[in-house]
Order: sequence, then C-alpha cells, then structure tokens
Amino acid sequence: MTGLKFLATGAALPARVLTNAELSRMVDTNDEWITDRTGIKERRIAAPDQATSDLSTQAAKIAIERAGLTPADIDLIVVATCTPDHLFPSVACLVQKNLGLRRGTAFDVSAACSGFLFGLATVKGFLESGMARRALLIGADTLTRFTDWTDRGTCVLFGDGAGALVMETVEGPSHLLSVHLGSDGTPGDILTIPGGGSRHPLGTNGSAKEFPPHIKMEGREVFKHAVNRMIEAGLAALTQAGLKPRDLKLLIPHQANMRIIDAVAKRVDLPNDRVFRNVQKYGNMSSATTIVALDEAVSTGQLQRGDLVELIAFGAGLTWGAAVLRW
Ligand code: ACO
Repeated sequence: MTGLKFLATGAALPARVLTNAELSRMVDTNDEWITDRTGIKERRIAAPDQATSDLSTQAAKIAIERAGLTPADIDLIVVATCTPDHLFPSVACLVQKNLGLRRGTAFDVSAACSGFLFGLATVKGFLESGMARRALLIGADTLTRFTDWTDRGTCVLFGDGAGALVMETVEGPSHLLSVHLGSDGTPGDILTIPGGGSRHPLGTNGSAKEFPPHIKMEGREVFKHAVNRMIEAGLAALTQAGLKPRDLKLLIPHQANMRIIDAVAKRVDLPNDRVFRNVQKYGNMSSATTIVALDEAVSTGQLQRGDLVELIAFGAGLTWGAAVLRW
C-alpha cells in the first residue's frame, strides 16, 4: 500500500502590518467594531512588487529546506490560489521557474478559501497512485489586491500570505487519514469578484466601473453557510477516519472570523486550547490560512510528530472541505 507522509511546512507573510487603528482612518470603522465582529486586530499587506508567486516561492523554499531536500527532489507543485499573478501562466509554473526546476508537473487549483483542502486531495491522488513521489503544496493569496478600500463591510477582513507543505510517498498507511470535500454553486453569488474575468473583462465598455475586480459579499449569508458547512465537513472527515473530535490534538479551522471559529469549536465541543486561532494577527488570507496556521502550530511545538490534527475550510464557490492528518 502506498500512502503519503508530511515532511515539513513553511510560511511567508508580508512585512507590512495594517492595524485596525490605521483602517479607521481610511473608512468609517473602528477597532471596537472590527474586534467585536471579527476578532481581527491586524493583517499583512503584500508590497507593491510582491505578487502571489513571490510569497509562494518564499514559503516553498523554507518548507523544502526544512524537509532536508533541494528543489530538484520535487516532482509535483500544486498551488491553491484565487489571486494568481496572471490569468496564465499559473502560479505553480512561476514557482517552478523561481525554484529553477524544468521537470515534473505544476498547476493551480481554484476553490477560493477552501483551496488548500482541494489541493491536498489532488496531491493525495498523485502520490498514492504513484504519479508523483514528492509534492510541494502551496496555499497563497493576495486578496487585498482585490479589495474595495472604500467598502468597510469587506476591507477590514482580508490579509495576504502564503504557506507551503512538502509531502512524499511512503510504503504503508497514509498519514493523510481522510479528506472530505463539497461544493454548491447555486448560492455562489453571495461571495464573488464580479469583474476581471471573461464575463466582465476589464477595460471594455466601462465594465471595470460597473463590475470592478473587487470582493462583493453578503456577510450574514456567508457567515451562516460557513459555520454549517465547516461543521458538516469536519465531522464527515472525522467519521471517515474512524475518529471523534476529542481524538484531535488540534483543530485548525479556516481563519476568516473569530465568531465563525468560536461557533465551530462550540458545536464540535472542543476546549479552546485545542482550536487554533491566529485570525487576530493576519485576517482572512483565503487559501493560505490553514497552512500558515499548521506551520505556526508545528513551529511553536503546539503540534508534535504523531499528533492528530484536522484542517477545515469554507470559501467562495461555495466550496468546503476537511482533512484529518497524522502529523
Ligand atoms: N465598521 C463599522 N460598522 C460596520 C462595518 C465596519 N467595518 N462593516 C459593516 N458595518 C455596519 C453595517 O453597515 C451595519 O450597519 P447598519 O446596521 O447601520 O446597517 C452594521 O455594521 C451591521 O452590519 P452586518 O453586515 O449585518 O454585520 P455582521 O454582524 O454580519 O458582521 C461580517 C459583518 C463581519 C462581515 C460578518 O457578516 C462575517 O464575518 N461574515 C462572514 C465573512 C467571511 O467569513 N467571509 C469570507 C468567507 S471565505 C472566502 O472564500 C473569501
């Protein structure tokens, strides 16, 4: 039996910190409202010359080095992102180029904030079927580039970042114990970037004005779907692995909003110290949240080799997913 094991993680966060105090000088908001409704205190903003592939490459280099490998050992690169540098080439191909690689397979996966979980399922297929031996999976987004800085309902929520995970095949049972994914496109317009794609391309007939390349969100609707779907997915992946929430050393929910995380933690009945939270520092980094959190949990010793951890996410699409890992 061929399985996969996890070798190492890495993360890259832009240096620029945008605080709630600074935001309250940009739009009609304040620290109290943002903290109370979201738990977010500050977020990172990519530098003008820093695109998604730059953050991705930085995180990838750290993860590869920590794994005791060189880029030449990697034969699969998957990047989960909804904010690629360009419509094409993919971010994964740019990372491949930045790492000096000219062989193997590289492509992007698009499932918004759930992207990392969809990427994990994709890598599982490649490694366990023998199509690749060593994989680099990256979750990276720069949603602040697609933020309307005059819309106080969304601009306080997002931040930029990237995380990377290196995995390899192993003879024996997989350390990825289960993955559960789901999608429902019907209510998809509650969370969308209307302009900038083939429906409303930029620069034609003034569509950039009517359909700007900015996040549009019905916050309350998104909130309800996020809580329900994350709980459903989290429990389904645990059941698939033959486990109960209390078997987990750590639950890492998508870091979008502290109230969503609290609601999920309450419903699965886990104590606070077993539910990871760093949304206060970074805001919602979309595909990057769960892998940056995993990196932080491993780096700080909160997660040790052999511990059971579950990642759960929800995003635009709508999409959702959960995975149980033995670290
Ligand atoms: N500062 C001050 N007041 C604000 C702000 C702000 N930043 N934003 C909205 N308000 C006001 C509104 O205008 C409204 O005022 P009104 O009552 O006078 O009309 C009031 O606050 C309440 O607004 P709501 O939108 O109803 O506030 P809510 O409690 O729902 O919180 C929030 C809004 C934080 C966006 C919440 O709905 C939420 O977190 N939703 C989920 C968001 C999310 O997780 N999105 C990411 C999904 S993942 C992905 O794929 C990107």
